[in-house]
Amino acid sequence: MVLNESQIQLIEFSWEVINENPLSMLKFYDHLFEIAPETIHFFPDDIRMQSDKLAHTMNFIVTHLNKLDNIECSINELGRFHNKLEIEPSHYSKLKVALIRTIKENMGEKYEESIGQAWETTLDYLSARMLGAKPVRKSKWAKIRSWLS
Ligand code: HEM
Repeated sequence: MVLNESQIQLIEFSWEVINENPLSMLKFYDHLFEIAPETIHFFPDDIRMQSDKLAHTMNFIVTHLNKLDNIECSINELGRFHNKLEIEPSHYSKLKVALIRTIKENMGEKYEESIGQAWETTLDYLSARMLGAKPVRKSKWAKIRSWLS
């Protein structure tokens, strides 16, 4: 991914602002469901645990932006999970709009277009990696083991 050092800093700074507000992630889902009501049925009724998981994973990603190769396996695994749920490219695009809107709101006057652009690049990269994650093919031996169990 082509994020330069100053873009990484913009992402880190804006994500810190998000983390300061305990309601940010709920606000994000509020935006997502407004922009993409067709995604509501994918999620459990109580979205709070999912909000925590998303925040936790985004913290992990944001702290690895200059060494994304090290977390490639985790991103692929997350992608496979979402691909099984049949999350589509259009959903990722709408998630991007909802997340950038949330960041913009949280940052208020501190928000700059360059922050939104850095997030666009990051989320496009994540979406492409997650959508492109190939299913793990069981080895012949693992298949035999599963048939025997
Ligand atoms: C940058 C992109 C995304 C990230 C980082 C992300 C992150 C996560 C994480 C960490 C989980 C929890 C996985 C687990 O329980 O093991 C999750 C679950 C889920 N995500 Fe995403 N996600 C992304 C995109 C999307 C999109 C675009 C949608 C659809 C609108 C979506 C829908 C879901 C659903 C339905 C679940 C399962 C909720 C449940 O039943 O508990 N995600 N996501």
